[in-house]
Amino acid sequence: MSGTKVHKPPTIAVVLAAGRGTRMRSSRPKVLHRAAGRPLLGWVLRAAAAAGCEKVVVVVGHESQKVRGAFSGGETELEILWVEQAEQKGTGDALARAVAVLDSPARLLVLSGDVPLVRGETLGAMLAETGEGWALAVADLEEPGSLGRVIASGDGGLKRIVEAADAEPDELAVRAVNAGIYVVPSAGIGPYLSRLRPGNAQGELYLTDAFGDAVEAGVGVRLFSLPDPDEALGVNDRSDLARAHRALLDRKCGQLMAAGVTILEPARTVIEADVEIGADSEIHPGVTILGSTVVGSDTTVHSGAVIQDSRIGTGVEIGPMTVLEEATIEDDCRVGPYARLRPGAHLGSGSRIGNFVEIKNATLGKGVKAGHLSYLGDAQIGDRANIGAGTVTCNYDGKEKHRTEIGEAAFIGSDTMLVAPVRVGEGATTAAGSVITQDVPDGGLGVSRARQRNVEGWVERRDRGQPKSGGSKN
Ligand code: UD1
Ligand code: MG
Repeated sequence: MSGTKVHKPPTIAVVLAAGRGTRMRSSRPKVLHRAAGRPLLGWVLRAAAAAGCEKVVVVVGHESQKVRGAFSGGETELEILWVEQAEQKGTGDALARAVAVLDSPARLLVLSGDVPLVRGETLGAMLAETGEGWALAVADLEEPGSLGRVIASGDGGLKRIVEAADAEPDELAVRAVNAGIYVVPSAGIGPYLSRLRPGNAQGELYLTDAFGDAVEAGVGVRLFSLPDPDEALGVNDRSDLARAHRALLDRKCGQLMAAGVTILEPARTVIEADVEIGADSEIHPGVTILGSTVVGSDTTVHSGAVIQDSRIGTGVEIGPMTVLEEATIEDDCRVGPYARLRPGAHLGSGSRIGNFVEIKNATLGKGVKAGHLSYLGDAQIGDRANIGAGTVTCNYDGKEKHRTEIGEAAFIGSDTMLVAPVRVGEGATTAAGSVITQDVPDGGLGVSRARQRNVEGWVERRDRGQPKSGGSKN
């Protein structure tokens, strides 16, 4: 034996993701359903990458083009080798397809595309503990539902796995479930996969039967207990999906709270996985923070706010029912309640945006105030400008968008219509109710409205049935 080099086979993740997911009652492939903002398969691929697998084989079948398309943009750092399982004959057949494309023996980390809560570190621990052998991840669930039951042998090892659909009542009562996560040598499992027969309730080639057969033939299968039973949550129907979604969100809230963020009611808070929030920020119940949003420290987000892909500084207050999408808010701003910031809205520090103000593709300088009922689109607004209630940038002429420029410390009177392209100069004022169609010079007043006239005694004459217009015929 001396001189023989022992090569450790590489570890390759295999994700089984070809199934129809019939119980989802969906026209979409099951693994593309989203939980906490990410497709189920996306969660699994992340875990595989975090576990240190070198590459991943993903078995797809039902609507495979859609599944491949969803992961064509570098969603995972792993190299993906796609394998087709044209007919979904069961998990055993799916794994056999993957084994068939490998050109040399490998250690396989087999994952189910519909088990999204598994953590990379858990998989890493399972691989380390299993070495070159066989292992199966198990968890004790209070409601084992439709998951396969793990029947232990007398000495506590694996005897076999029974699917819920095939189980006798005493087997159904078993709470130890198969999480659908396995470590196997590709060369070892191959023969058992090729011998599978579909003699079961679902008429499928069960991967789980290969484990039972291997055990019968004397193969030792380690039972790896998942540290967190949630990691075993498989998504077979919409109720499972809701449970997985909530569990992933709870996990995110837990991480944020551990890092010093106050979340008053985690169970009523939606914060997606990639969101970052600084310490001492406070998130009130019923808040939704999505996508790549980054929130600084000491910022408060009140109930009903929906925030997507936005950047928010420190010391900011986001009022109730405020909606932000691709917006940037610098430090110490107060926004809302009931404000709407659309893509390209950028608030300079210390700005105040009040209720029913909509901002789109507009940059506001420091300390700008727009307190009420306004639309500011395609605009550049200088520091300390004051935007009166009911101001509208009339940015669209029916064909094209035009820009409005408002200088530093300008005062826009209430109900000003700014017909773009137009510029209001630094320190300039527009009179309330004006329709501004021409530039207003720095320090000037723009006024465009009919002069007011008062008609003395008009109400009394109306009530006596006399002519309603003024006494004179001018
Ligand atoms: C499977 C296990 C069950 C385990 C559970 C964990 C089997 C027979 N049963 O049951 O013991 O508790 O997972 O969640 O394996 N798939 C394919 N090709 C197919 C069939 C399925 O790729 O022909 C994929 C599915 O897309 C899914 C995964 O394999 O991602 C599991 O299949 P699913 O039908 O959900 O099996 P379960 O009934 O959940
Ligand atoms: Mg499943």
